[in-house]
Amino acid sequence: MRQAHQPQGLVGWAVGWMFALRRSNRQRNIWVVSLLDVQPTDRVLEVGFGPGIAIAALAGRATRGHVFGIDHSETMVRQAARRNAAGVRDHRVHLTRASVEQLPSFGDPLDAVLAVNSVGFWPDPVERLRELRRLLRPAGRIALVSQPRCPGATRDTTARAAEELQDLLTQAGFTDLRVKTLELDPPVACVLAHNPTT
Ligand SMILES: C[S@@+](CC[C@H](N)C(=O)[O-])C[C@H]1O[C@@H](n2cnc3c(N)ncnc32)[C@H](O)[C@@H]1O
Repeated sequence: MRQAHQPQGLVGWAVGWMFALRRSNRQRNIWVVSLLDVQPTDRVLEVGFGPGIAIAALAGRATRGHVFGIDHSETMVRQAARRNAAGVRDHRVHLTRASVEQLPSFGDPLDAVLAVNSVGFWPDPVERLRELRRLLRPAGRIALVSQPRCPGATRDTTARAAEELQDLLTQAGFTDLRVKTLELDPPVACVLAHNPTT
């Protein structure tokens, strides 16, 4: 759990590779990016990108836009930067070591925000989501994903996680909530929502 929260050192590097190689991890990351409706000129942020699988999929869609990522693990920043070396070199992918509690500036408003199996680690997640909402343009999108990894996790564990994510997003002021499920073992829940227009 400690390494999942903040992968560090050699063990953290190996944990990152495990995240990257595990089939279900890859599937859930590619899947959520497909749900976000990313457009070529979009400016997208991922919080807690780990080894950078979703970052690569986002960069493949936002071909004329910008993909930002923050992760508080130096080990994950280095691993994701290697995986996304071409995008980093072209200044389309921007990976920063930062915690969601101390968000850096991303310049112009964002079109979409994404977090995969990360919200559970954030302190005061409602406040974090409010801060992220302020970075989004009106009608900007957010996707929060949970695939519970606790021992014995089942379909019910995923359903409860989805309810918790919906509750957090509603409290943070997001609207138009929708839940999608990917049938893995255990299932993956993705809660999509919008920043209101007014
Ligand atoms: C379980 S891993 C998931 C990684 C990736 N999203 C995936 O699905 O493969 C959680 C990631 O969130 C990052 N993280 C956890 N708490 C964070 C925080 N407060 N601020 C920034 N990143 C955080 C960790 O460093 C780790 O890379």
